[in-house]
Amino acid sequence: MHPNLARLRELYSTKPVILAPMEDVTDMVFRRLCRTVGSEVGMTEFVNVEGLLRGCRNAKRKIRLAEDDQLTAIQIYGADPERLAEAARFAEEAEPLFLDINCGCWVPKICGRGAGAGWLREPEAMVAMVKMVVSSVAVPVTVKTRIGLGPESHMPIVDLARRLEDAGAAALTIHCRTASMGHSGAADWTWAAKAREVVSIPVIVNGDVKSADDAKRALDETGCAGVMVGRRAIEHPWIFREANALLREGKTLAPPTDEERLELCRSHLRLNVEERTEPYGVRVTRRHLSGYLAGLRGASQLRQQLNKCDTLEGCLGILDTATTRIAA
Ligand SMILES: Cc1cc2nc3c(=O)[nH]c(=O)nc-3n(C[C@H](O)[C@H](O)[C@H](O)COP(=O)(O)O)c2cc1C
Repeated sequence: MHPNLARLRELYSTKPVILAPMEDVTDMVFRRLCRTVGSEVGMTEFVNVEGLLRGCRNAKRKIRLAEDDQLTAIQIYGADPERLAEAARFAEEAEPLFLDINCGCWVPKICGRGAGAGWLREPEAMVAMVKMVVSSVAVPVTVKTRIGLGPESHMPIVDLARRLEDAGAAALTIHCRTASMGHSGAADWTWAAKAREVVSIPVIVNGDVKSADDAKRALDETGCAGVMVGRRAIEHPWIFREANALLREGKTLAPPTDEERLELCRSHLRLNVEERTEPYGVRVTRRHLSGYLAGLRGASQLRQQLNKCDTLEGCLGILDTATTRIAA
């Protein structure tokens, strides 16, 4: 048995709140930033197996794990089982905590080609693919999927969970929407609860966890081993420490102070520029700003100033002025 399998099984009992894989978001920098505010287990952005096997630079960047990424999994996606297995062997060399197969992406250009949630069209083929990938690597393999494609009257996820366990999946993350819902409508956690009941591998519930209270409720209501947080982490990474405090100590933490919000902006900018240089490193940080600065006096003006500035020094100057104003 691979040592990470035993590790994975016990991990969720102490570290049940997981950072979701998000394309263009959960890169090395963002994972590191989230760890400063309590995130522990996380995943890379999804990696296209064809890109990876071609040696494409972006795919290689995505699977690069840093020393502090010990609790990070690599997620891969593709439509061809053999290419997935080959890419899994390649990704395994980066020594991830585990490998995850994306069977949940609803985006038409991915799902329409049979990758991501496209696998839900043929559960039989999906199970065979997972079996092949599992047998190709030593590291644990998990699957992230959705409750179904969309039009079903009864979602296939419950039966599928059982079959994926039989195929050797080490854990299962269920985004509790159908593929046709995309990101709209409400996630229905009851499907994660139903799937959890029929398997003995850890099930992670995902979808619409926007606060520490939601994280606790998702775990309590479903009995799942873990809970995965996606979009809320983009704007409010403090959700990890807030959820950890609530789950571990029953404590409701105060929201981050204005100074902390500004300091997180500084850290994110610095880390991104270190990794990507200017101006790109500054620009990619912008999508997080409205969340980071939420509730600050003069937030919209501050955001406008930052959005116009392409240099790290300039942005840090703007943030310093804001800090002084807040302290006055
Ligand atoms: C910008 C963005 C990028 C995403 N990229 C991925 C991805 O690479 N792999 C994946 O499995 N899911 C991806 N997702 C889906 C999330 O992992 C998650 O399942 C979904 O957002 C629901 O969780 P939430 O309600 O907490 O956001 C992405 C979501 C967003 C918003």
